[in-house]
Amino acid sequence: MNQEKIGILTGGGDCSGLNSAIKSITQVASIHKFKVIGIRDGWKGLSCCDAIYKILNNKLVDQIDYFGGTILGTSRTNPYVVTDGIKNLLINWKKLNLSALVVIGGEDTLGIASRLFNEHRLPIIGIPKTIDFDVPDTEYSLGFESSLNVITSSIDNIKSTAESHSRVFIVEVMGRNAGYLALFAGMSTGAQIVLIPEVDFEINRISNILIKRKKEGYRHSIVIVAESAKAKGNLENLLTSEMDQFGHVRFGGIGNWLAGALARESSLECRSIVLGHLQRGGTPTAYDRRMGFMFGSASIQAIRNKSFGSFISLFNGEIVLKPLSKLQDSSVYLNLSKYYNSELYCPKYVYN
Ligand code: F6P
Repeated sequence: MNQEKIGILTGGGDCSGLNSAIKSITQVASIHKFKVIGIRDGWKGLSCCDAIYKILNNKLVDQIDYFGGTILGTSRTNPYVVTDGIKNLLINWKKLNLSALVVIGGEDTLGIASRLFNEHRLPIIGIPKTIDFDVPDTEYSLGFESSLNVITSSIDNIKSTAESHSRVFIVEVMGRNAGYLALFAGMSTGAQIVLIPEVDFEINRISNILIKRKKEGYRHSIVIVAESAKAKGNLENLLTSEMDQFGHVRFGGIGNWLAGALARESSLECRSIVLGHLQRGGTPTAYDRRMGFMFGSASIQAIRNKSFGSFISLFNGEIVLKPLSKLQDSSVYLNLSKYYNSELYCPKYVYN
């Protein structure tokens, strides 16, 4: 009997929880007698001349769940802008004789999945992942909690120096255009100021808050700034204005800029630190492993039910399916009124 074959692909920025998802997809697939192959480096592995992949089995994935990143590799390849990308992808799909593909990615990677389903009816199921937490229609995307944990423990570490030296520390975090990482890290660490892309800030107001706190006898303050947050009237700080294949620039440098501006305005000693890619790595938290397990196994169930063109979502605390088409051209930003105090630039108490 010809065994059905399922492909797995991880695209976009790596993060924690991907390997747990790959493991559970492989394990559940084997229970149902599917063969499994892992496509290398996201859409790149499927849209190049000859598909690049490796055969997966239970032994191979047995120990992968406590490692960050993805054993399949990833890339930010957009097959729609690569020469012959879609043509190659369709040929490779046929050659590989795929019955279905599980695509694990953020908005960009899943956006391609959605287009491929709409335009070519490819049997695809999506799984949301991104530390930015900006995938619409799901209450969780793999990687977010582990990243938040890294940020939290990094800030815990900085506090001793901040307190000993009586300094203001500005901690720059990722998140692209969404402020979730910054704001939720603010809640986890008790940072005094959190600056998010959704609300432009004023230096003198931040300075006044920090000076007041100093006068009250507090020796240190922590300011968390999201990489694309900006002062009123300014543009975002960019590391490079070169765009990737999905039209994204690379943000960076706001922390350093802010430390200088705040030091001048407040006369407090201000230092900055950029957490950068440290916040994408490390040992995955239990939550990311568990969600990887649940999202992964749900994707095989979705394949068995032929619910293609959907992605696995956590909704009202339950694992459900949502249409991939919902992801196209939509961006989710913070529910500001619920979580953010735009006057004091800090997380809002839920019940005040
Ligand atoms: O989307 C995840 C993310 O980590 C963003 O927060 C960040 O802006 C971007 O990826 C960085 O991408 P790269 O690793 O390609 O520089």
